[in-house]
Amino acid sequence: MDIKNYYITTPIYYPSGKPHMGHAYSSIIADVIARYKRLEGYKVHFLTGTDEHGLKIQREAEKNKKETQQFCDELSEKFKELSKILNLSNNDFIRTTEKRHYKSVEDLWNRLVQSGDIYLDKYKGWYSVSDEAYYDNDEIEHKDNFKISKLSGSKVEWVEEESYFFKLSSWSQKLLDLYKSNPDFILPNSRKNEVVKFVEKGLKDLSVSRTSFSWGIPVPKNQKHVIYVWLDALTNYLSALNYPDTSSDLYKNYWPADLHVIGKDILRFHAVYWPAFLMAANLPIPKRVFGHGWILSDEKKMSKSLGNILDPIQIIKIYGIDQLRYYLIKEVSLGNDGNISLENLKNCINNDLANNYGNLCQRVFAFLKKNCGNKIPKYSTFTNEDRTLTNKVKNDLKRLNELVNKQDLNNYIKQVIEYSFDSNKYFNDSEPWALKKTDVKKMNSVLYSIVEQIKNISILLLPIIPISANKILDTINVKKDLRIITEINDNIALDHDKELGKVEILFKKVD
Ligand code: ME8
Ligand code: MG
Repeated sequence: MDIKNYYITTPIYYPSGKPHMGHAYSSIIADVIARYKRLEGYKVHFLTGTDEHGLKIQREAEKNKKETQQFCDELSEKFKELSKILNLSNNDFIRTTEKRHYKSVEDLWNRLVQSGDIYLDKYKGWYSVSDEAYYDNDEIEHKDNFKISKLSGSKVEWVEEESYFFKLSSWSQKLLDLYKSNPDFILPNSRKNEVVKFVEKGLKDLSVSRTSFSWGIPVPKNQKHVIYVWLDALTNYLSALNYPDTSSDLYKNYWPADLHVIGKDILRFHAVYWPAFLMAANLPIPKRVFGHGWILSDEKKMSKSLGNILDPIQIIKIYGIDQLRYYLIKEVSLGNDGNISLENLKNCINNDLANNYGNLCQRVFAFLKKNCGNKIPKYSTFTNEDRTLTNKVKNDLKRLNELVNKQDLNNYIKQVIEYSFDSNKYFNDSEPWALKKTDVKKMNSVLYSIVEQIKNISILLLPIIPISANKILDTINVKKDLRIITEINDNIALDHDKELGKVEILFKKVD
């Protein structure tokens, strides 16, 4: 049998402070896609982790009067905890301070040296420690006695030191060719246009080592230098597949990556530097980089300095993880910036989860308990109306699949929740409580069809609200291995003989 593999990654986060909603957002997007691909039958490898080297981390540790490694250990642990709290289905968690990662970065470095893409010179220019990024003069502006990056608004400092350079300039044309021949390499399209413009301007060679601090991976054969943290960090995607052992199963099955999910702030690194490094090293290039927008709070990017951070852990404690996952995926349009607020979160929980999907399940299960011996009734024939709902889902499967595969999660979820709305309406319009007295056969076929639709909706919601959707599927006794997309298309009968499992109120209304 043909085994289909799928490799998806989140950015690896700087453990420079505790994780916030932006980090949670990237991770949830990647998790939803990872879970969907599994439902689609793929063997998925899903990676997340922490990016622990560089001046930003070194300084943060100093500020906190901690030994750097100790500082990273503690904060990386917080990110690991967050991935549990978010219910991520990641297969691995990589830390760039791990041995496996050193080996991988050293090997990539050596390849770049061998290909003649690295030379020694001196760097003179601007550097933002907060972004760990070099900026050109024309990318800098003056503000309140500081020089800042026009792009990110973060402070830059002047750097002059011996440095190795990567011959990025010689890869401009190859990169433009790549964007042209793989139109979906960078998504969404608006983001792609920004990148293309940037590369068309012509690329300068990139400084890829530093000598003025030590917290990093030493340059092989010249330990005075540490490797630039972005060259180090990007390589994590390979390290986690046992690279440089290119004969390992993980590498063979999963490289090149299918999808790097990242925020738009780090697009340049993933869509310009990363493919250039890989091409120079003669390694395959990832298939897609998706740059999502920013989560805003009060219309501003959430950031420590603005003090407008919504703490995901706090929110999950109060409202629940499935609720937060659903809200972020439904209400923030994936490629664009999106404002979030507690008010909207509550409305979304009440309207979509409590009053719509939750209510559908609740009232149908309550009806079955009261009127059908707490079992899914047997039907003799279906009317056309009975099958309208389920047939619609079946006909839509291909389109739903396309939506996820172009990362249009908003329209996916909107479609799925509409099925739930339609099912509620069908329940109302069919009046099964009246049919009970006049036409039990019809009541049975109506209820069977609605439960089948609850099954379909729940399978489609599994990637987004895995805990709740699994509980519903437990209640209607759907076997674990049948909770897959193809199952929606097969008309395997629901279990009529077993009583329904425990029914819980999944989504409490909030005010
Ligand atoms: O950049 N809205 O790490 P980082 C949405 N270590 N997403 C946000 C966000 C917001 N307000 N704030 C952060 C780094 N993010 C590097 C990555 S990868 C090889 C190295 C998300 O801790 C978004 O995905 O600064 C962004 O790209 C990432 O967190 C940056 O996290
Ligand atoms: Mg950042």
